[in-house]
Amino acid sequence: MMKVITIDGPAGSGKSTVSQLVALELGWIYVTTGAIYRTLALLLHEAGMLGDKQSVHNAIERFVAFLADRYRQDTRSGRVFLGDRELTNEIKSPFISEKASFVAQDELVRQKLLPVQRRVVLECNGAVVDGRDMGTVVFPEAPLKFFLTASVEERARRRIHELEKMGQTVSESELSKEISERDKRDSDRKVAPMVPASDAITLDCTQLSPEEVVKTILKYSLERGLVPKCK
Ligand code: DC
Repeated sequence: MMKVITIDGPAGSGKSTVSQLVALELGWIYVTTGAIYRTLALLLHEAGMLGDKQSVHNAIERFVAFLADRYRQDTRSGRVFLGDRELTNEIKSPFISEKASFVAQDELVRQKLLPVQRRVVLECNGAVVDGRDMGTVVFPEAPLKFFLTASVEERARRRIHELEKMGQTVSESELSKEISERDKRDSDRKVAPMVPASDAITLDCTQLSPEEVVKTILKYSLERGLVPKCK
């Protein structure tokens, strides 16, 4: 059986924290695919190409090859590197969050990034992957899928906390607006919209701590035979 657990959901639903903890418990790798879209958005921004669909299309093969060659995500901490350059904090800014969501609407971009995402995961012995379309498009054959939700207010609070830890300040109202607009864009897009897979388990995490969500996910992993009973 394919050893992949997919965790999809909107911005700030807690999917990366939870995925990281579940992976640690299982001794599997953790992959957060949003970081790939964010890195691509940063590269396109630095090349002055954001917003110019034709230029992006003309250069996409080159950009994706560059990224696939140098991109590295620490499979425990989730820290992101491009060659020697660490991008972990830079790609989490609200500016890049918004740009990544725009870049992610493009069908050709998604098509080119699909094998990059699958390769990382299929080369390893067990992975917890988070994103928007993990359960629907990238790993439709995954044996265990989750969709995490939480209220916009709670998600904005979590993101503010995360940004503050990185030394970035944003107001709650500004962030709520950014999150709502991004949710709408991610859910309404024509290709691979953010929707729960038909076989996904939806968990509302508004009132749940990450540890409680992790416990639930581990319970299902055991029930589905993804981990030996003694784990
Ligand atoms: O998960 P995240 O907030 O880091 O993702 C940033 C953006 O990237 C998100 O707004 C939409 C896009 N994304 C996507 O379209 N598909 C994925 N599998 C992951 C992210």
